[in-house]
Amino acid sequence: MNVGVIGAGYVGLTTAVCLAEIGHKVICVDNDKDKLEKLNRLKVPIFEPGIEELLERNFKEGRLKFSDDIGEAVKFSQIIFICVNTPPKEGGFADLKYVEKVARDISSFMGEDYKVIVDKSTVPVKTAEKVKETIIKYSNKNVKFDVVSNPEFLKEGSAIHDTMYPDRIVIGVESEMAKEKMLELYKPIINRGNVPVKIVSVRSAELIKHGANTFLSLKISFANLIAEVCDAVKADAKEVLEAIGLDSRIGSEFLNPGIGFGGSCFPKDILAFKKTLEILGIDCSLVESIEKINERSWRRFLQRIEKELWVLDGKVIGVLGLSFKPNTDDIRNSPALKIIEVLLNNRAKIKAYDPKAMDKTKKIFPNIEYCSEPYAVAKDAEALLICTDWDEFKHLDLKKIKELMLIPIIFDGRNVFERKLVKSLGFKYFSVGR
Ligand code: NAD
Ligand code: UGA
Repeated sequence: MNVGVIGAGYVGLTTAVCLAEIGHKVICVDNDKDKLEKLNRLKVPIFEPGIEELLERNFKEGRLKFSDDIGEAVKFSQIIFICVNTPPKEGGFADLKYVEKVARDISSFMGEDYKVIVDKSTVPVKTAEKVKETIIKYSNKNVKFDVVSNPEFLKEGSAIHDTMYPDRIVIGVESEMAKEKMLELYKPIINRGNVPVKIVSVRSAELIKHGANTFLSLKISFANLIAEVCDAVKADAKEVLEAIGLDSRIGSEFLNPGIGFGGSCFPKDILAFKKTLEILGIDCSLVESIEKINERSWRRFLQRIEKELWVLDGKVIGVLGLSFKPNTDDIRNSPALKIIEVLLNNRAKIKAYDPKAMDKTKKIFPNIEYCSEPYAVAKDAEALLICTDWDEFKHLDLKKIKELMLIPIIFDGRNVFERKLVKSLGFKYFSVGR
């Protein structure tokens, strides 16, 4: 099929390369000239494992092209995906101006042919109805189209795998024609992995996305609450949560305590969901509690550091991990950066290393010392913080780290080390809930 993807960010680019990989012809549009210039040279502007190979193959084999011309993509495509950003507005509701702009642009290039417009951006319930109204309002002819909600559940760091082998595909749809087109589009993915497909109403599809992200962030905040209790009574959150997670009704994933969730999605999506609840007059205290616990998680970590180091002014603090999670260079809402900001405000000297996120962090903190590897961070440090659970950190030579540090203290914000082992090597060791 011929497909247009508007937005070449984490979601749009992943969608475009994966749809091309399963045989569709894809035009991916963005209005960021730098991004397009890189993509046309087969350079991927983000770090996402596996994406480069798919981009190169499909581009060279002619199934994928990049363009700044939305008209070209609309005329070419039977199905057009909206994958633009939906950041929070002041006050927290999702800012839908990019979605609206794309809907208006699409409307001006609609012709005689029937098209399916797919909303893949994460949006509040009833947005698809607004997209439909917008296209009708701004088209000056009788256009034939449906708006479908097809939320995206990929995780950064495993975006290609999540798209090719999803847990489920959700299609919120009003018409039989749009449903058939969407099933045809995803057929190779559905058949290969025997993937469950949920055909639901458009409003349900929109709510499934906000509901899923709220529930996942709830699990993380629950884990952090348990960690708080464990710290207070000297129990071990790892033991407690592992056993809780063994109940198949609960499940063990997303029950890892730490310095809280970050990223471009959970924080903004639960905020947008909270606003939706407020607008509907529904009590939103559950969502507020998730946010409060999340904020407390990184602040509690900082308090521990402050308590242990007493004076921060002039102290050399090493930070391992800057991205909001491993396997990505994304630093949006990264707890690591919030912690660094407070430490810098208290005049600590920061040395930092991250396998992929240093270039992006340099734009925010140009004056901290960036090291080319973790041992250089440890050298002469008076404390070492683990802020992201990159695999690389799990395999560090801790004996070497101890020799390099001025004072051997580790604050492990992601519980990556075995407590007993680290202590046996002579470190003072603080982790979360253990
Ligand atoms: P992003 O910021 O990485 O990418 C958005 C892209 O859209 C940018 O490249 C931007 O230049 C482009 N864009 C904006 N307006 C445009 C326009 N008028 N014409 C052409 N291009 C335009 O965002 P993202 O992380 O890919 O997220 C996109 C949406 O998907 C958001 O709603 C997000 O919540 C949702 N989502 C993201 C993830 C994720 O892991 N990042 C996962 C699931 C869902
Ligand atoms: C999340 C969801 O997992 C995706 O399903 C969803 O599509 C996406 O948001 C979205 O809507 O954009 P992502 O933000 O890429 O994906 O990353 P996650 O793996 O969910 O991690 C989010 C944050 O939670 C990270 O900061 C991570 O360190 C933290 N986390 C995760 C924990 O603190 N504990 C855990 O047990 C799991």
